[in-house]
Amino acid sequence: MSVESFKVVLVGESGVGKTSIITQFIDQTFQEDIQSTTGGTFSTKSVVCDGGKILKFEIWDTAGQEKYRSLTTMFYKDANAAVMVYDVTRKDSYDEIKNYWANQIKDNAPENIILAIAANKSDLIEHETVDEGEARNYAKELNAIFVTTSAKSSEGINSLFEEIAKKYSGATNITIKEEDGDEPQAQEQKNTVKIENPGKEVKKPKKKGFC
Ligand code: GTP
Ligand code: MG
Repeated sequence: MSVESFKVVLVGESGVGKTSIITQFIDQTFQEDIQSTTGGTFSTKSVVCDGGKILKFEIWDTAGQEKYRSLTTMFYKDANAAVMVYDVTRKDSYDEIKNYWANQIKDNAPENIILAIAANKSDLIEHETVDEGEARNYAKELNAIFVTTSAKSSEGINSLFEEIAKKYSGATNITIKEEDGDEPQAQEQKNTVKIENPGKEVKKPKKKGFC
């Protein structure tokens, strides 16, 4: 059975819900009192394309706090996909995608990287401060996938990763495999960032049509 690894990196301001999105996707759990991320970790989960081939997501979580920004660059410079996450209740987190993250990725990531924008915390829609229509248009301009997500209710979480897998593979149907567990490769330490396996080889983005 053919398996292809695929590196996805989540970026965005601290507190928008990057870790929570990954936890919901991998473990189907949600925590209110989750700690802010200080280092890079990756988890894996596989999906099966309609042709039966397996696409193994290597999902990298990054630290949103500003002091870690320069470090984050190394996570997306060889990524196949980048998800820029904002919090629908925090306009500043959306503005930072436009003013910072999109440019950073354009300047540092492979040219053919797949982009996605996740409008997270959709369960708090009554406190929304970002115009969703504008955000959707902006995603179109970037040729990015746009998905409304809630790491709390799980709305849109599978869709986000399915849309990315479809765009990458060319498959029309994607089924999520449930048996993969976490494989953390880097560890977080209080106020320090300790990367245990920074040299891990990740394949460069390939042309479409894997499936
Ligand atoms: P950093 O690691 O600091 O970059 O933040 P992060 O983007 O990883 O955010 P994190 O997942 O730690 O979530 C921050 C807070 O928002 C936590 O209290 C979460 O419980 C909460 N949160 C995350 N996603 C959602 C969501 O979809 N809805 C609601 N209501 N809260 C959420
Ligand atoms: Mg985090």
